[in-house]
Amino acid sequence: MLEGEAEAPSNIAIVKYWGKRDVSLNLPLNDSLSISLDALKVTTKVLFDPALSKDEVKVNGVKISDEEVKSYASRVLDKMREISGKRIYAKVESWSNFPSSAGLASSAAGIAALTLASSDALGLDMNLKELSKVARIGSGSACRSMYGGFVIWHAGVRDDGEDSFCEQVFPHDHWKELVDLIPIFTEERKRVSSRKGMGISVETSRLMKCRLEFIRDTFPLVLDSIRDRDAEKFFEMTIRHSNSMHAIMMDSFPPLVYLNAMSLKVIDRFGDGKTAGYTFDAGPNPHIFTLRKDVEAVENSLMELGAIKVVKSSVSAGPRLGMKHD
Ligand code: DP6
Repeated sequence: MLEGEAEAPSNIAIVKYWGKRDVSLNLPLNDSLSISLDALKVTTKVLFDPALSKDEVKVNGVKISDEEVKSYASRVLDKMREISGKRIYAKVESWSNFPSSAGLASSAAGIAALTLASSDALGLDMNLKELSKVARIGSGSACRSMYGGFVIWHAGVRDDGEDSFCEQVFPHDHWKELVDLIPIFTEERKRVSSRKGMGISVETSRLMKCRLEFIRDTFPLVLDSIRDRDAEKFFEMTIRHSNSMHAIMMDSFPPLVYLNAMSLKVIDRFGDGKTAGYTFDAGPNPHIFTLRKDVEAVENSLMELGAIKVVKSSVSAGPRLGMKHD
């Protein structure tokens, strides 16, 4: 029996991925940059078993539908079977350290942990760059969870995706003052998945071209702000990159509205970028970056706005392998 277990952090993108140049390989239209989070992690255990006739996945004890398994986990497992030459199906179990009802996306962390666990189970000697390419095939944003700290995902230009991988640009302890506050306002309602949503935007949004230019022009500024630990510049960039993606979503047809009234209150409260910078993925709950000295004030402000709970996260050191069984 070939078994492996690994833990990976979730990540929040500052420069976001929204749009693909290749759907089957998850090749993005633009470079993105994320921060790995130590408060939101997923542990994944994988067991390759010759007795199985298909891949089986459970997340937090709940069985995942065959269709979803095929769209995410099996893409990673197929690639690992191809690399190892071992045509064996797998049983996968994942646990997140946060309730899925909180609406905090865990699929990126889960896919990254699955990639690491399965390479270990199959005895493959792959470096993080190679592993990030496999995780990318499972789900784009998962490739950035292969590393801790501040991570770039290079869009690449090749059709085979060999130059679309991740690398760490700054380690997890580069900016110790930086904290991510994640207020939980509501349980997330059903919404259009990121995968489907970004497809609609690529097809219909005329602003997409403009956003790609904005990303090209400001990527160096985002990197500078992190390198120099320039909080105000970083908050401004964080806010503008989030808003730029949500403008594309709104410009899509049919429009994609992931924010709600509470999200708009957060934008109104923190939009000046003085003490904090917010960012929203494809959902209404924000991530709010601030400095340690301002955590209490920002947290109080969020509770005033109606947050049920505020999760605090530092920057994660990255994924790690669990025990190895032969
Ligand atoms: C809004 O990685 O979930 O979180 O590659 O189709 O699996 P697929 O999409 P996914 O998209 C994440 C989009 C985002 C922005 C980001 O994380 O960069």
